[in-house]
Amino acid sequence: MRAFSIAQLRQAAQRRLPRSVFNFIDGGAEDERTLRDNCAAFGRVRLLPKVLNDVSNVQTKTLILGKESGLPLAIAPTGAVGFGWPGGDLAIARAAARFGIPYSLSMSATTSIERIAEEAPGRLWFQAYFLKQRDYTFGLIERARAAGYEALIVTADVPVGGKRERDYRTDFTVPFRYTPKNLLDFASHPAWALSQLRHGMPKLVNLAGVAPEARSTSALASSVARSNDPSLDWEVLKRVRDRWPGKLMVKGILRADDAARAVALGCEGVIVSNHGGRQLESAVATLDALPPIVRAVGSKAAVLLDGGVRRGGDAFKALALGAQAVMTGRATLYGACAAGSEGAVRALDILSDELVRTMQLCGARSIGEIGPQLLFQGEDPK
Ligand SMILES: Cc1cc2nc3c(=O)[nH]c(=O)nc-3n(C[C@H](O)[C@H](O)[C@H](O)COP(=O)(O)O)c2cc1C
Repeated sequence: MRAFSIAQLRQAAQRRLPRSVFNFIDGGAEDERTLRDNCAAFGRVRLLPKVLNDVSNVQTKTLILGKESGLPLAIAPTGAVGFGWPGGDLAIARAAARFGIPYSLSMSATTSIERIAEEAPGRLWFQAYFLKQRDYTFGLIERARAAGYEALIVTADVPVGGKRERDYRTDFTVPFRYTPKNLLDFASHPAWALSQLRHGMPKLVNLAGVAPEARSTSALASSVARSNDPSLDWEVLKRVRDRWPGKLMVKGILRADDAARAVALGCEGVIVSNHGGRQLESAVATLDALPPIVRAVGSKAAVLLDGGVRRGGDAFKALALGAQAVMTGRATLYGACAAGSEGAVRALDILSDELVRTMQLCGARSIGEIGPQLLFQGEDPK
């Protein structure tokens, strides 16, 4: 497909999707300051390239969580993807496998834990929210273990759902509520509407056993947010650590002290994230939160970052500031919503090509050569 940037994939997704679905994916909490600032933070970092360094061969392979990855990228967990493209989870998971990078399946995905493992074998991570029905989440974690998932991500930044006003305005809820406004919206996007009719409305299949009253959310797009357990605390994380034999990461960390606590409790990684600006409005941009977290735990654990990554150069900057890898949420989602698996592959192609080019232009021949020495830090030589 013809798209040269993630911004173009976003436009293509916007054209194809009903307003409500596009805004569910694209939007953030309240005035969307954090959503914007995640991207803007990358723009504030300037590069200081080395020249004449023979960059004819550039290697993007690297270790993420101690295992080889084709790129310093992983797919962030995103729920309800099937509303954007039927089978969208599988499309993105297969694209990730093709690039040899880890794929994270959201607990509120529209494809089952087992189906992803069967049909998109690769490096698979499972993301869990804690519901008020705690045992339900532990049951899903057990299913992920049985299906061979390598790592578990516990998302910590959704004690309650963020206030996503675009969803209120467009009547977007999961499960769908058919209102005159969104019926009109669907009817004016016939390609999308027909594909949904053909495949049937997607379901949050992994949540099928959750009590119906907890599932029938109203005016709430973050489908599990209402049944999320606001009492989740470090004790629960400790129980998860005791039960999960694989690698464990906490997602939604923005403070060095929380990162240190997660690592002390036995987590192999932390994901610096503000949920793509969808939760706490005015939360710090993830790139700004990264350096103190790297200083606190970077030598003991993997520090990953997500939020606002729209260019391969953004990944380069996060790596230069000490992240082991970045995760993509919307970037790959826009691709999948525009053109299914072809679009997801295109998104990763674009990010990979931009990363390689940035490395070459900066004189970095391997991921290990990306570091703070390639960042402009003012006139102070330190
Ligand atoms: C449509 C959508 C659904 C999401 N669903 C989940 C989810 O189910 N679990 C989770 O931990 N994070 C979820 N996130 C947050 C992402 O994992 C990630 O933190 C965020 O998208 C990163 O920002 P970016 O979109 O700017 O890359 C979701 C994000 C989007 C855009």
